[in-house]
Amino acid sequence: MNAPAMPASMSIPMFMNGPRSMKKKFYLRNLLTSKLAPAALPIAIFVFRRMAILLAAFVLVAYPAALRAQQPKVKDMQGKTAGEFFKNVKVLKDLPATELHPAMEYITVALGVGCPYCHDVRKFDSDDNVFKRSARNMIQMMYAIDDTVFAGKREVTCYTCHRGAPIGADAQLLPGQKPPAQVPSPDSYGNVVVPNLTLDSSMGPARPERPEGGGERKPASAALPSADDLLSKYQQAVGGSAAVQSAVTLVEKGTVEMLMPNPPGVQGPLKMGNPAVEVYRKAPNRAAEFIQLPAGQAMQGYDGSSGWLVGPVNRELMGGELFTVQDWSEFVPAWNFKKDHTNIRVLPMDKIDGHDVYVVIGVAKNGSGVDRLYFDMQTGLLIRAVTNMNSVLGSFPETTDFDDYRDVSGLKVAATVHLLSPEGDRTYKFDQIEANTPVEDAKFQQPAPQPPGPAGGAPPAASPASGGPAR
Ligand code: HEC
Ligand code: HEC
Repeated sequence: MNAPAMPASMSIPMFMNGPRSMKKKFYLRNLLTSKLAPAALPIAIFVFRRMAILLAAFVLVAYPAALRAQQPKVKDMQGKTAGEFFKNVKVLKDLPATELHPAMEYITVALGVGCPYCHDVRKFDSDDNVFKRSARNMIQMMYAIDDTVFAGKREVTCYTCHRGAPIGADAQLLPGQKPPAQVPSPDSYGNVVVPNLTLDSSMGPARPERPEGGGERKPASAALPSADDLLSKYQQAVGGSAAVQSAVTLVEKGTVEMLMPNPPGVQGPLKMGNPAVEVYRKAPNRAAEFIQLPAGQAMQGYDGSSGWLVGPVNRELMGGELFTVQDWSEFVPAWNFKKDHTNIRVLPMDKIDGHDVYVVIGVAKNGSGVDRLYFDMQTGLLIRAVTNMNSVLGSFPETTDFDDYRDVSGLKVAATVHLLSPEGDRTYKFDQIEANTPVEDAKFQQPAPQPPGPAGGAPPAASPASGGPAR
């Protein structure tokens, strides 16, 4: 696999994933708060987090080519605390170093901002930014509240007060009133506010005992099937153990509807596009995705032990992000749900798009919270999976809808996959799906880091100060 062709001189003001948003009540994420953006970006590239599964947010930052080759590796962080590995981590210092990035990822969602809101991404350790300093105080406040009031349980999070906006709510609103934080100020773009997700309990910590609607649901009148029944009916519906176990590879090709980066030099709202996408899977748990963007190839993968993504930044996934990419890499979605979860049970029936569904929930053993599966009552097929990206500061939900199941060599495979998270959404449509065509192992391995690109307006060689992951 070649390294991505991302010219160093490429200038993409911002690139994020999202909407069809307004329809879905999504507002564009505030990817770059202009007051904090370096006035003249010597190089503007998009930096992104987990792709595919997570509806990667592509963020505009000034990102030195020199840094691209130097994303921290999980193996270098192993056994180190954040305080030891990073230069200037004061409050989160005792966490494992691998937990820092997911926590930063969470903050951007809880506040609806991008990394540059608090950081000069050439110098993540700098405390020059007043919002970074506020955020550090806020983290302390959050821990103080949770420790003193909630016996150390993570009950109050950034999201409790911020609800996807950079300013915490400090006054009650009357019906129909807009929270002040949603009014775009002249120096910031609109925030990502996802009102519907606000009510989702998985934005908070895992509560297996009342995971849906705060336990307000009425008990089902009809007797429900057991979780075991539903999970084995699903396994039968997708082809059965024999077919799944004899399947070796799955190759899916098609297009993905997503927000596209603006061409170099073009400002303004992003437009939806339909770039070509290829997804490769190899049983039991290797997966890789390649999206052909005008500026180059965006990729994400999991090789059976480590996860990675590549755009302008080529980095490894860690902490809660790694768990999410692991879920995504399963050859058949949720095939190992029983093995990977505890407290599995069935909730009262629900409806999705007019279809009656059974809902199975379970607490993920990896600590990422309560996961939910929605099975079509008629076909037994999985039509929705809700998982969480967890971090030490909080978690956010991510939903994958599976539709248009096709028969592929005895397996049922969803030809339409819709991903939704607080960061936006994507719709994959695969028109070519093949099982058991040979796929070389190299596809799943993280490509070698790109050497620092040639000039072409290359930035001054800023020192990779923090060694920080820029997403
Ligand atoms: C709302 C403000 C805020 C946002 C947004 C934010 N951070 Fe941070 N970041 C902080 C704070 C505060 C610290 C220091 C934490 C501490 O001292 O315990 C920090 C520390 C870091 C560090 C450690 C730097 C060092 O060497 O000391 C890295 C790396 C980092 N952030 C990366 C990111 C990335 C990548 C993003 C975007 C995904 C991001 N941050 C978004 C507030 C923020
Ligand atoms: C108990 C409620 C509460 C919690 C929890 C909370 N915040 Fe805040 N936050 C606020 C309020 C209220 C403000 C606005 C203060 C003001 O306007 O001076 C604010 C302001 C901020 C600001 C400054 C924004 C600006 O434009 O001045 C940042 C950055 C911030 N919070 C980050 C965080 C982060 C990160 C977390 C989680 C670690 C968090 N907050 C948790 C209530 C909260």
